[in-house]
Amino acid sequence: MDKFLIKGPCKIKGQVAISGSKNAALPILAATLLFDKPVTINNLPRVRDINTMLNLLRTLGSQIILSKDKKSVTIIKKERKFFAPYSIVKQMRGSILVLGSLISKYHKSIISFPGGCVINGKSGRPIDYHLSALKKLGMQYEIKKGYIHAKSKGKLKGSIIKFSKISVGATENAIIAACLASGTTILKGVAIEPEIQDLINFLNLSGCMIKNIGKRSIQIRGVKELTSIKYSVMPDRIETGTFCIAACLNQGELNIKNFNPKLIQTELNLLRKIGAKIKTSKNEIYIKGPKKIKNLKNLETKPWPGLATDLQAQFMVLLCKAVGRSTITEKIFHSRFIHAQELNRMGAQIRIKNNKAIIEGETKFEGAEVISSDLRASVALVLAATVANSTSIVTRVYALDRGYEKLEKKLRKIGVNIKRIS
Ligand code: UD1
Repeated sequence: MDKFLIKGPCKIKGQVAISGSKNAALPILAATLLFDKPVTINNLPRVRDINTMLNLLRTLGSQIILSKDKKSVTIIKKERKFFAPYSIVKQMRGSILVLGSLISKYHKSIISFPGGCVINGKSGRPIDYHLSALKKLGMQYEIKKGYIHAKSKGKLKGSIIKFSKISVGATENAIIAACLASGTTILKGVAIEPEIQDLINFLNLSGCMIKNIGKRSIQIRGVKELTSIKYSVMPDRIETGTFCIAACLNQGELNIKNFNPKLIQTELNLLRKIGAKIKTSKNEIYIKGPKKIKNLKNLETKPWPGLATDLQAQFMVLLCKAVGRSTITEKIFHSRFIHAQELNRMGAQIRIKNNKAIIEGETKFEGAEVISSDLRASVALVLAATVANSTSIVTRVYALDRGYEKLEKKLRKIGVNIKRIS
C-alpha cells in the first residue's frame, strides 16, 4: 500500500484550485440510474470513490464513457440489472444510494449492506433511516445473508416522511426514489447540506419537480421520466476547508480558486476567530495564517450550516497549535476520533471524554510513522506532518485516495515537501 513521506516543517504559499465534490458527485451518479437517455456529468473529482461508483453503475448495466482526463462521464443505460455485489458495495458507504434509484425505476434490487469509513465505533453506520424512508414510499424488503432484497408493487407512491434524525444519505436516497413515484412526497427533517442542493439542481434540470418548502422540508412531485442533460458537479467544500486550515498552521498564505466562500461561512468564521486574515470574492478565498493561533472553546460539529464533521480532524490539528486549551464535541459520529491517538504519537496532547476532545495547545509536532483508516483522519495526519519538526510517514494512503484528488501534487505545488512511496 502507498505511503506519504513528508519532510516538515513546510511553509505553505501559492494558489490551489478546488476539484469537484466527491459527496455531491456520488448521489448524482447514483441518480443516473433513473434515466433512459444518456446523461453527462462534468467536473468529477478523480478519486477512488468515484471509480467505485462508476464500477457499481457498470455492474448495474450502465455504459460508462469517460473523457480522456476522466473528469467527465457520459452514462447510458444499456441493461436492467439489479444486483449490487458485496465486493463493490463494501468499498464505500455511498453505494447504498443506488437503492433509491433501482427501486424507483425498476421496482427491484438486491444490494449488499455498505461499508465506508470506520468512524462511528461500536454503533457502526446503520442504514435504518434509508430503509424506513423507502419503505414509506412502498418498498418491501428482507435481509438475507448480508443482502437487502428489495421490491415494490409497481411504482413507488408519494408519501409524507419525517426523519427522526438528520441524515445526508437518507435524505438523498429518499429524494432520488421519490422522483419517479406517483403523486407527491413531502420530506420533513431533511439534511440541507450544499451537496443535497446540488443533487436537487441536477434532478430539476432533468425535469424533476423538487421544491424546498420550509427550513428542513422538501416537496417532490413525481414525474414520468427524466430528460437527457449535461451537468457540472459543485466544487468540494471539504477540500476547500482542508486547504484553508493548511494555510493557517504555519503562517501560510493561499489563494483558493474555484469555490463559493458562502458554502463554508461557518468554518471561515472560525478561522477568523483563530486569527486568520481572510478575503473572499465570488469564487475565491484568500487566506493568511496568524502569527499566534488563538484557541477555540466549545466547538461542536453539526449538520450544515454547522461545523462539518468532515473538517473536525483538520480543525483538531490546528487547535493543537493554538495558544491555550480548546475543545471539540463530535455530534454526528460520536467516536470519530481515531486521529487523536495518532496525533498524540506525534506529540499532541489530546484527551477524549465520550464524544468530546480536549486539546492542549502549543504542540510541537514531531515526525513519526502514523496510520489511519479514515479519509479525513488521514488528511489530518498529513496536515500535522507538514508542520512537524522532522520527517513523517503516513501509511495507508489508500484512505486518502478515496476522497482527495491529487493531494500530494497540490500540496507540493504550494510548498509541502511530500513524496508518495509505492
Ligand atoms: C455523509 C457524507 C459524510 C459526512 C456525513 C455527515 C457522503 C458520501 N458522505 O455521510 O462524508 O461525514 O454525511 O455530514 O456524502 N444514521 C443512522 N441511520 C441511518 C443513517 C444515518 O443512524 O440510516 C446516523 C449516522 O450513524 C450518523 C448520523 O446519522 O451518526 C448522520 O449520518 P449521515 O448524515 O447519514 O451520514 P452519511 O450520509 O453516511
